[in-house]
Amino acid sequence: MNTVTGDTIISGLNWRYATKKFDSTRTIPDDLWSQLEEVLRLTPSSFGLQPWKFFVVKNPELRAKLQGASWGQAQVVEASHLVVFAVKHNLSAADIDKLVTSTSNTRGVPAEKLEGYRNIMLGFVNPMEVEKKDNWSARQVYIALGQFMTAAALMGIDTCPMEGLDPVKYNEILGLNELGYHAVVACPAGYRSADDRNANLAKVRYPLNEVVQHL
Ligand SMILES: Cc1cc2nc3c(=O)[nH]c(=O)nc-3n(C[C@H](O)[C@H](O)[C@H](O)COP(=O)(O)O)c2cc1C
Repeated sequence: MNTVTGDTIISGLNWRYATKKFDSTRTIPDDLWSQLEEVLRLTPSSFGLQPWKFFVVKNPELRAKLQGASWGQAQVVEASHLVVFAVKHNLSAADIDKLVTSTSNTRGVPAEKLEGYRNIMLGFVNPMEVEKKDNWSARQVYIALGQFMTAAALMGIDTCPMEGLDPVKYNEILGLNELGYHAVVACPAGYRSADDRNANLAKVRYPLNEVVQHL
C-alpha cells in the first residue's frame, strides 16, 4: 500500500466543505468517477452484509424531479454526479445467504464451514423489527457517505452531503420501492463554482479537548 501523510489528509479535510454551488460546466472524468465507485464498493459494513445500493443518477429529468424533493437545493442538478445512498429494505435470510455464498466463493471455504457465522447473523437480523433493520442498515450507509466524501476531497473533488430531502419522494421518483431499496441520503459530487461563498468560510468545529476525551 502507498501511504499518504496525515498532513495530506488533514489538508484535504480542511479543503472540503459542503459545496452549495457547483460549476455545472465541469464533469468528473470517467476514470476518477470509476475510482469513486470503487471507494463506495469497498465500504465496510456490519458482518460484511453490505445492506445498500448506491444509485448514480445521470438522467437530467430525474435530477430535476429530485431537486423538487430536496428543498429545491440546486446542487442536485448542478453537480457533475449525484449519488443516492439507499438501504436494502427489510434485510432477510436471503441477504445473509447471499453473503455466505459470496464468502464461500471468494475465499474458497465450503459453505458448511460458514454455518456458524450464518446462524449468528440470522440470530441478529431476524428478530429485529423492519424499521430497526432499516435504521441499522442506514447507519452503515453513512459510513459509505463519509468514506466517499473523504476520498473525493483527497482527489480534489467536491461534495455536499444532503439529508435535506424527502426519502419517500426519492423512492417514488427513482422507483426504489420496486427494487427493494429505500433512499437515505444523497451526495452531489463535482467541482465548486468560483463564486460559491461557502468555500471561503472558516470551519466551525469544537476544540479537540471538547470532542476527544482520553480516559
Ligand atoms: C448527514 C448530513 C446531512 C446534510 N444535509 C445537508 C443538506 O441537505 N444541504 C446542505 O447544503 N448541507 C447539508 N449538510 C452539510 C452540513 O451543513 C455541513 O457539513 C456542516 O455545516 C459542516 O460544514 P462543512 O461540511 O462545510 O465543513 C449535511 C451534512 C451532513 C453530514
